[in-house]
Amino acid sequence: MENFENKVVLITGGGTGIGKAAASSFVSKGAKVVITGRRQSVLEETAQELGDQVHFVTGDVSKNGEPGRIVEETICKFGRLDVLVNNAGTGKMGPLSMTSDEDIESIYRTNVFAPLALIREATVHLAESKGTVINISSVAARGMMPGVAVYASSKAAVDHATRLLAAELGPKGIRVNAVAPGLTDTDITADVKSNEEMLGMIIAQTPMGRLGEPNDIANAVLLLADEKAGWVTGQSVQAGGGFLL
Ligand SMILES: NC(=O)c1ccc[n+]([C@@H]2O[C@H](COP(=O)([O-])OP(=O)(O)OC[C@H]3O[C@@H](n4cnc5c(N)ncnc54)[C@H](OP(=O)(O)O)[C@@H]3O)[C@@H](O)[C@H]2O)c1
Repeated sequence: MENFENKVVLITGGGTGIGKAAASSFVSKGAKVVITGRRQSVLEETAQELGDQVHFVTGDVSKNGEPGRIVEETICKFGRLDVLVNNAGTGKMGPLSMTSDEDIESIYRTNVFAPLALIREATVHLAESKGTVINISSVAARGMMPGVAVYASSKAAVDHATRLLAAELGPKGIRVNAVAPGLTDTDITADVKSNEEMLGMIIAQTPMGRLGEPNDIANAVLLLADEKAGWVTGQSVQAGGGFLL
């Protein structure tokens, strides 16, 4: 796999879970990495753990103006941007009848508005570096399950935006792809993991027969970021051990 030395990677939600695993992998390949999230203490701890090549920016990507500020701080700190990983995400499971306007708005602002705004703000820098975007979607985007309509439809929007923006930004030399994780062992899946029946059902429907680990997803992110994937764009790569194939 490519050496990411002298490359700068921005990972939203990079303080925990999949984002943290991706940050760690990019650092191990020589990249400088900016991680973001709302909780400063979490970011501080992760940055300290991963070392000097990691810088953190505290901020809420769902708020107007924050995506622009985060990109600007990345450029101020490291002078360039090569890889944008739109990883920050949120979701609340449950029937639509139990889902408030605030829930819908929060999920769509975090999962759809933020990646679009971040890509828009990063485009000029990615065009300069002939860089790449990796959006973190979900296998739920193409599945048919009750109780996930808001989250899954937000991730379907991410997948489709990935295709559309690959077409729009390709002429600038920017590749846009997505990684769609299956159920992965992180904070966001605490509810599912504590429900033994549901967990068993999901694992039974996963040909590889286990829950995903954050590193499984990070590995797929690095594969797509690699220059050897330079002819791959507009794709959503399922990284779910075969779940919902
Ligand atoms: N784990 C799975 O099974 C799974 C499956 C499919 C897709 N995914 C997707 O994978 C991505 C990463 O999730 P994860 O599993 O690694 O869970 P996680 O550990 O809970 O990570 C989510 C990260 O996003 C950040 N975040 C959430 N809302 C934010 C906001 N408004 N502004 C800035 N940062 C925000 C969180 O930090 P703060 O709370 O500090 O802001 C956190 O670091 C998400 O997009 C998720 O939808 C996960």
